[in-house]
Amino acid sequence: MIKKPSIPDPETVPYSEFLNKFKRLKPLEPSLRILRFFFVTICLICCFFYLDYRAATRGLRVRGQSDSERFEWLGINGSSGDGRVGFLGEGCDLFEGDWVWDEKYPLYQSKDCRFLDEGFRCSENGRPDNLYTKWRWQPKDCNLPRFDARMMLEKLRNRRLVFVGDSIGRNQWESLLCMLSSAIPHKDSIYEMNGSPITKHTGFLVFKFRDFNCTVEYYKAPFLVLQSRAPAESPKKVKMTLKLDQMDWSSVQWRDADVLVFNTGHWWNYEKTIRWGCYFQEGREVKMNMSVESAYRRSIETVVNWIGSEVNTSKTQVFFRTYAPIHFRGGDWRTGGSCHVETMPDLGSSPVSSQKWPHFKLANDVLSERSNKSQVIGLDVLNVTIMTSRRKDGHSSVYYLGPKIGPAPRYRQDCSHWCLPGVPDTWNELLYTLILKREASHTQNSTTPSQVQA
Ligand SMILES: *[C@@H]1O[C@H](CO)[C@@H](O)[C@H](O)[C@H]1NC(C)=O
Ligand SMILES: *[C@@H]1O[C@H](CO)[C@@H](O)[C@H](O)[C@H]1NC(C)=O
Ligand SMILES: *[C@@H]1O[C@H](CO)[C@@H](O)[C@H](O)[C@H]1NC(C)=O
Ligand SMILES: *[C@@H]1O[C@H](CO)[C@@H](O)[C@H](O)[C@H]1NC(C)=O
Ligand SMILES: *[C@@H]1O[C@H](CO)[C@@H](O)[C@H](O)[C@H]1NC(C)=O
Ligand SMILES: *[C@@H]1O[C@H](CO)[C@@H](O)[C@H](O)[C@H]1NC(C)=O
Ligand SMILES: *[C@@H]1O[C@H](CO)[C@@H](O)[C@H](O)[C@H]1NC(C)=O
Repeated sequence: MIKKPSIPDPETVPYSEFLNKFKRLKPLEPSLRILRFFFVTICLICCFFYLDYRAATRGLRVRGQSDSERFEWLGINGSSGDGRVGFLGEGCDLFEGDWVWDEKYPLYQSKDCRFLDEGFRCSENGRPDNLYTKWRWQPKDCNLPRFDARMMLEKLRNRRLVFVGDSIGRNQWESLLCMLSSAIPHKDSIYEMNGSPITKHTGFLVFKFRDFNCTVEYYKAPFLVLQSRAPAESPKKVKMTLKLDQMDWSSVQWRDADVLVFNTGHWWNYEKTIRWGCYFQEGREVKMNMSVESAYRRSIETVVNWIGSEVNTSKTQVFFRTYAPIHFRGGDWRTGGSCHVETMPDLGSSPVSSQKWPHFKLANDVLSERSNKSQVIGLDVLNVTIMTSRRKDGHSSVYYLGPKIGPAPRYRQDCSHWCLPGVPDTWNELLYTLILKREASHTQNSTTPSQVQA
């Protein structure tokens, strides 16, 4: 007995029908008519293939040739057959596109990854649906390379990749650890350099992939700038200050990393600053009246200036990941806001205004002002805000407590962090793409100097 799959595979059905017909023909004497029929059919098929081949090669020449040539040395197929160019194509905005269903996702399972905080293991914590793990990002005008963990580890060999920022940055860092470790059979060869476990509230964690002599690190610095004790002469209500003109104290530790991924935003609000007596300081002056928005803007300027003056951007590839939207409905995290009923992305393509997220808009303004003044920022933007805003289905919601405890009460939801596997995997696929892209442009410049002048 042959087990029949419940859903017929569309590609096999016509073929088996064809075989059946062929079997029925078999008892007949091979007449001339049948031979002629086959001959004509074969001619027709050859003809179609020839035309198709011509069309395909012509198409390739128009849109993809430089891409595929550039990519020969990388061993990656930059282009594909669907009319979109590869991700190296000129003028392709990787961040404009759609979420498309893809059965090949997710890239890993949380139960196979020991580098995850409990709070991100949604399905193990009881989340019943897994649709949210099946969406792939498809840019409008080009294709992303399929994530290849070994390839990325090769690119990181003898290098340091560092995430600096808040817990959403940590979310992305843990996602990358899982994505990369999926290619490593001996999980013991991946370890924290100081033996620290993955738990919340540690200052920094450095994971080493021994076989590749590379580290993937996370530094908690939710404001990116320096938080310190209040100056002695300041008013009593000032308990702490954020020095808007200085980078976080840990910056000396990651300044020379090979890849730096910044993010900030979720802590820049009244609740996490002034309410706790944390005011803003520039030079020696505590700015008692400075708004959180102005302070945030100043901090982004400091980050950009610091990159310009302190980071050797020929060595270090610097990324700034933009704000990751939250999706509380009917309140916020303290007042019973929720997202636990969301199981589908927002697939409508209505244009979203960046005004909706002040943190995104402010950072964008600083970055585009600099570009307008044609200052070289030396920074790649992981411009994920708008694409991510469509993923209200991806949050931990009530599934951030361990399996023994079970779902959290509905009035205490997490609609800021993301389930893993999930949305941050996509940010890392984009990170991977931009790392390949930079290497492609470097290699091209150094191997074919004549082309640079052309
Ligand atoms: C590249 O991939 C596409 C589909 O992904 C295929 O059609 C094409 O033939 C490939 N080209 C090369 C040179 O492998
Ligand atoms: C490992 O990588 C570091 C840089 O992260 C480098 O200094 C060191 O020489 C490398 N070790 C080996 C054995 O290649
Ligand atoms: C700050 O605001 C308060 C009240 O709004 C005002 O009295 C004070 O003069 C302001 N201080 C500065 C330095 O602008
Ligand atoms: C910057 O990095 C490049 C590449 O590693 C190196 O050749 C160059 O000497 C560095 N520049 C400085 C000022 O350290
Ligand atoms: C940058 O320049 C463009 C046009 O040149 C202008 O539309 C835009 O508002 C400028 N942006 C900023 C932030 O100044
Ligand atoms: C990010 O994308 C938005 C929308 O596509 C665009 O308006 C903005 O300028 C982009 N920001 C940067 C820094 O590239
Ligand atoms: C490579 O050369 C192109 C010009 O052909 C230039 O625009 C680009 O900045 C160069 N890239 C690097 C990394 O030097």
